[in-house]
Amino acid sequence: MTFKVTELRPRIGSSVETDLETLLSGAVGDELRALLQARGVLLVRGLQIDDAQQLAFTRTLGPIGDGDAGTIYKVSFDKRENPTHADYNYGNFSWHIDRTDTDVPPFASILTAKRLATRGGETEFANTYAAYEDLPEADKQLIDALRVVHKLESSYRESVPSPTPEQLATWRRHADKVHPLVWRHRSGRKSLITSMSGTEVVGMPAEQGAELLARLMVWATQPAYVYVHEWRVGDIVLWDNTGVMHRARRYDTTCGRLMHRTTVLGDEPFDPHGAPLAA
Ligand SMILES: [Fe+2]
Repeated sequence: MTFKVTELRPRIGSSVETDLETLLSGAVGDELRALLQARGVLLVRGLQIDDAQQLAFTRTLGPIGDGDAGTIYKVSFDKRENPTHADYNYGNFSWHIDRTDTDVPPFASILTAKRLATRGGETEFANTYAAYEDLPEADKQLIDALRVVHKLESSYRESVPSPTPEQLATWRRHADKVHPLVWRHRSGRKSLITSMSGTEVVGMPAEQGAELLARLMVWATQPAYVYVHEWRVGDIVLWDNTGVMHRARRYDTTCGRLMHRTTVLGDEPFDPHGAPLAA
C-alpha cells in the first residue's frame, strides 16, 4: 500500500499519491475523509478509473448520493451525454456550494476528467473555513446571526443574463431556501455559507444586503483561499462541499468537455440549530 500526501496550496488542497488497489479497497477511506475535511480539496492523479471504480471509491468515503440524473452525473453541455440537465451546467461558472436549494447538501463531490476543454475549464476552489477564520472580528460579529435567501436561479445569472423561458422554468423548479451566513459545524468549526445563489440578507435593505454579500464573496475568493485546478485526463478531484465553494472557468460549451461526477451524501444541515425554513 502506498499513500503520500503533498500540499497544493498552504490554505487549501492536497495531492494524494496512491495506487488503485489502495484507493478502491476502503483501507484509506476514513483517512481520506478526514484529510478532505482538513484540506478542502484532494487531487489523485495518474490513475485512470472507470465508472464502476469511481462508484467503488466514492463508497469508501460514505453513502453515495443518487441524483435525479443518476448516480454517475455527466457534467457536459452535450445533450447526447447529458440529455436532461445540460442547462444546469451554466451555474457551474459562478462561485457556489452545491445544492443550496436543500437543507442538507452533499458532503463531497468527486469529479473525474474524461475530456478536457480546448481552452479554459479549470476548476477553482475556495476554502470557506479559512475565509471565515480570517475575517476581522467586527465582520464576524456583524454576520453572526444573519440569514440569507438563496435562489438557484441567481447562480445562473452571471453566465446566462437573458435566460429562455424554458431555462427559467427549469431553474425555478428548485426551492428557495434561507440559510445562515455562518455555518456552525458539528466539529465546532465555522465556515461561510457564501454562494452566488445568495440574493438577499433577511431583514436588511436589498441594496445593503447585496453589498455585504458581494463584499464577502470578494473576501472569500482571495487568492490565499483559492486553489485552481488545471485538469489532465484521468484526474480525480474531490472536495468537501461543506467547507469549499467552487466554480469552473469559462470554456466553449460546444468543445465536448466531459467530467463524471459522483457525490457522497451529507449529514450536516446548513442550519443545525434551526428548523428548515423555506424562503
Ligand atoms: Fe457544483
